[in-house]
Amino acid sequence: LRLAVLASGRGSNLQAILDAIEQDRLHAQVVGVFSDKPNANALRLAHERAIPAQYVDPLAYADRSAFDTALFARVDECEPDLIVCAGFMRILSPAVVEAHAGRMINIHPSLLPRHKGLRTHRQALASGDSEHGASVHLVTAELDGGPVLAQARICIDSDDTEESLAARVLRVEHPLLIACLNEWQRGYFRYAAPQLLYRERVL
Ligand code: GRF
Repeated sequence: LRLAVLASGRGSNLQAILDAIEQDRLHAQVVGVFSDKPNANALRLAHERAIPAQYVDPLAYADRSAFDTALFARVDECEPDLIVCAGFMRILSPAVVEAHAGRMINIHPSLLPRHKGLRTHRQALASGDSEHGASVHLVTAELDGGPVLAQARICIDSDDTEESLAARVLRVEHPLLIACLNEWQRGYFRYAAPQLLYRERVL
């Protein structure tokens, strides 16, 4: 399974992917790492392992769609089977999303469809939720709105804060992502139409 990873920051999900590959828990190869931030830790992680890594500067392009076109031209060059958005903090334009439909996933720190967008831990606390977690979903034109492939769930305790929830969700999202990538590699997920997903063993 050839993976391209898009990340803007810390890169702990990329680290989890690289660890799983190195420890033989995931049969995949990271063929490219891409970032819109020059100092993203994800780029450093890739450089350390001689994985092709590219920073693409959004300010070098006239608008969002020009940036997305340039970014995805580079992504496509490395011929990934699957594109993983792991903390890529930009909204993608519909054209590139559609061109990669069914081949691009995102990990989001909430139990979708609850709490789309930013500050999901704050949103969960403000809503008085008793449960929270992380979701892996297919990327569609609707922000955090594509079909959910899998979720990991945690309980919210009465003394939880945004920070404590963020830490606990992060601990479950890494194994969740690896489990999804393994299932993808085994052919469990297929994307049939924008909002239609079936999950079965494809031989
Ligand atoms: C994670 O919380 C992920 O769910 C969200 O962005 C964060 C990325 O973390 N989409 P990292 O950069 O992988 O450490």
